[in-house]
Amino acid sequence: MFQFRRLWTLDLGLWTYNSFVMIILGIETSCDDTSVAVLEGSRIRSNLVSSQVKVHEKYGGVVPELASRHHLDNISWVLEEAVRQADLGDSAVDGIGVTYGPGLVGSLLVGLNVAKGLAYSWNVPFVGVNHLEAHLHSVFLEHPDAELPMLCVIASGGHTSLYQLKTKDDYELLGETRDDAVGEAFDKVAKMLGLGYPGGPVIDRLANRQSSNKVGLRRANFGAETYDFSYSGIKTAVLYHISRQTVRPHDGSGNPSDEIVEVCRSFQTVAIEMLLEPLQRAAIRLRPRSVSFSGGVACNSYLREEAAAWGQRTGIPVYFPSLILSTDNAAMIAAVAHHKLSRGIQSSLALNAEPNLRY
Ligand code: KG4
Ligand code: ZN
Repeated sequence: MFQFRRLWTLDLGLWTYNSFVMIILGIETSCDDTSVAVLEGSRIRSNLVSSQVKVHEKYGGVVPELASRHHLDNISWVLEEAVRQADLGDSAVDGIGVTYGPGLVGSLLVGLNVAKGLAYSWNVPFVGVNHLEAHLHSVFLEHPDAELPMLCVIASGGHTSLYQLKTKDDYELLGETRDDAVGEAFDKVAKMLGLGYPGGPVIDRLANRQSSNKVGLRRANFGAETYDFSYSGIKTAVLYHISRQTVRPHDGSGNPSDEIVEVCRSFQTVAIEMLLEPLQRAAIRLRPRSVSFSGGVACNSYLREEAAAWGQRTGIPVYFPSLILSTDNAAMIAAVAHHKLSRGIQSSLALNAEPNLRY
């Protein structure tokens, strides 16, 4: 195991880091990705993500017990490799940030306990990070000067929410899904069509950025009073279409049929319109100075194209993190930890996992 030599120790309770750029180790194990990153100031020195997709794909979704067991298998080598790649030389880690919620409790506990053990043995401060806050911060890793106030959409397998960031510490939740998350809908529709797991990337590839709604899917509409989302209706509508039109799921041989491609295209078009519509309405009312996206669905190429075109029309800068920073990763956790620790905010070693943590 690697060793760290601390360059300096400050025992004031309140941390002031004016003379040094902090080196922060981030750990993320909230769902099925095991990730460790090392951040030096805002520079990412390493950001390793070990995916468990192969483990869960035969079940068509994440199996919580398997996820936590695989985190246990993976965390040590991911940690060692992230530290090796960071190439710290004689420098020391100044603090540790770890996701403590929301997420799967067994998965969260793996990262949390490793972080506590390291913080204790290295005698460095540690801070629990809200996974959603980390998604909101991910944009600043590559675009530190993105202007606020910002509207930010988190769109992943577990979350679909719209926030307003007034400052880097002051967020307002404007709307969220009332049922399924958008990524979950991508995964379920792909499963119905025999396209495997995770469904987002394969639907994205098959739809090939083309917009159409030949299937005639209807959008959820809650009226102008709310910025909430809903994805259970569209999922059920696809299910009805498949059974009414007897669309045969892909059997794995050759290319998926034209009918399947048409369903993917219609679903993606409507799902992405439903993601953008509350944001566009909020932008008219709140006049943000920028807009950003985070979460696995932010990798969607049709979404990226549509959002960029809207940005051009309105003159509002639109930011997408690079793909590795859109999906779950520890660099975004380390970024929030850096922000907090540099302000003297730490957690006690008694911090527990909070699976239903909100933001
Ligand atoms: O953020 P993430 O890696 O994990 C969490 O859910 O927290 O997001 C995974 C989700 C999955 O539902 C996956 O199908 C979706 O993001 N996804 C996509 C694309 N890539 C991943 N959805 C649409 N288009 C994509 N290109
Ligand atoms: Zn996430």
